[in-house]
Amino acid sequence: MLTKEQNEELTQVGPGTPMGEVLRHFWYPVAFVRELDEFPAKRTRLLGEDWAVFKTGDGSYGIVDERCPHRGASMVYGIVEDDGLRCGYHGWKFDTDGNCVEILAEPDSSPKFRESCGVRAGRAQALGGLVWAYIGADPAPELPRYEAYVMEGVRDVGHTVIPCNWLQIMENSVDPYHVEALHGNYFEFVAAQQGTPMPESFGGNKHEKVAFDPFEHGIIKRRLLEGQSEESDDWKVGHPLVFPYKMWVGGNGVYQMQIRVPVDDTNTHVMFYTVHAPDGADVSGDDRCVDYPIEWIDDDGRFIVDYIEGQDIMAWVTQGPVADRTNEKLTKSDVGVLACRRMFREAIDAVCEGNDPVAVVREPHDVIKLPLERSKFGRGAGFAIDWINDGSMRYSPLAEEMKQLHLGAAAAREELGDS
Ligand code: FES
Ligand SMILES: [Fe+2]
Repeated sequence: MLTKEQNEELTQVGPGTPMGEVLRHFWYPVAFVRELDEFPAKRTRLLGEDWAVFKTGDGSYGIVDERCPHRGASMVYGIVEDDGLRCGYHGWKFDTDGNCVEILAEPDSSPKFRESCGVRAGRAQALGGLVWAYIGADPAPELPRYEAYVMEGVRDVGHTVIPCNWLQIMENSVDPYHVEALHGNYFEFVAAQQGTPMPESFGGNKHEKVAFDPFEHGIIKRRLLEGQSEESDDWKVGHPLVFPYKMWVGGNGVYQMQIRVPVDDTNTHVMFYTVHAPDGADVSGDDRCVDYPIEWIDDDGRFIVDYIEGQDIMAWVTQGPVADRTNEKLTKSDVGVLACRRMFREAIDAVCEGNDPVAVVREPHDVIKLPLERSKFGRGAGFAIDWINDGSMRYSPLAEEMKQLHLGAAAAREELGDS
C-alpha cells in the first residue's frame, strides 16, 4: 500500500515530476516509419507534452514542440522541407535541432535574433519499422537496439491507446499468477458463456514457484509450472520486464516486445510488436512491418475479453485511470509488483543524484539480446498458432499468412528430423 503522495510520485509522467524525469532518459516509438512515408508530419503526445514529429525531404527525422514559438500555431500543419519544418502560419523555418533558420517575412533578420527564436526539439530516428523519439536532456543516450528491432523476421504490430497509466501495465509484467487466473479460469468462464471451446494455450497451469531477478535492463521473471522440470526454459531462463515501459516475451519462433508508451498520466499507447521468425522458415529479406489497430471494446461499451490481450486490457483499464494504490492489499504472491516498484523508486533516487537510471544505454552497440525462453511452455509451432488465434494477432491482416509460415516451418523442421 502506498500513500497518495507515493502513488503520485510513481505514476506522474509530466515534465518536472520525479518519474517524468526518469522517463525522459529513454527513447519512445512515436510513429510507424510507414506513416511518415505516407505523410511526413504527425502530431504525437508523449509524457504529457504535445509534439510534431516529421521526416524531412532528405530522409532525416525530427521532433519539435507542437507550438510554434512565434505565435503558437501547430507545427503539425507545417511545410516539411528537405532540411527542416516550416510553420504553416507565417513561415518560420526550423531545422531538426530546433534552430530557427529563416523568418519568411524578415529575410534580413540577424542570426543573433533568430537564435532566440528556436523551437524546443528532441531527437528522432528510425529502427525496426518504428520512429523513435528522445525528449530528455542532452546528451541523448543510445537508442537500444534490442533484438526485437533488429532480428530478421516479419513484423506485425497490433496497437491501441488505452485510458490508464502506464505503470499498472508494467506491474502486470511481473505478476505471473494472473496468467492462470485471468488467461486460464476467467478465459474458461468466458468461453463457456460464449459456447466456444476453451483454448488450451496459455492459462490453466498452476504456478509452483516464481522468481524475479533484477538485471541491467529490468527484471527477469521466471516461473515453474506444475508438471515442468527445473530444467524448463520457463524456470531456467524466463523473460524480462524491460525498464521502464516494455516486456519481452515469446518463444518457438514468435517473439514479442510489448511496448507501453506513456502518452500522459492517464493514457498509454500499447503496442504488441511481434516478430515472426520460426526456425526452418526463410524470412531473410522480408522486412515488412505491418501495423493495425486492435479492438478491445464492443459496440455496447463492454470489454472484449475472449482473447488474451483483451483480458489484460480489461484488467489494466478497470483498475482506474491511475490505479489507487492507497487502498490495495498486497500479499505474498504480489512480490513481483513490489520488485517493480522498488526498481522505479531506485530510478527516481538515481536521477535525483544526477545519475542515469537502470537500462539507459550509453555505449554504441549492434544488438542487445535479452533473456527469453526459446521453448515456451515446452511447446512447438502450436504455441504460435494458438497465440495468433487467441491473442491480439487475430486482428492482424497477416494472421492467416503467419499461421501458414509457422506450419510450413514446422513441416520443414520435421523433414530435417527436428520436430
Ligand atoms: S505562428 Fe508559426 S510562424 Fe507564426
Ligand atoms: Fe496477461
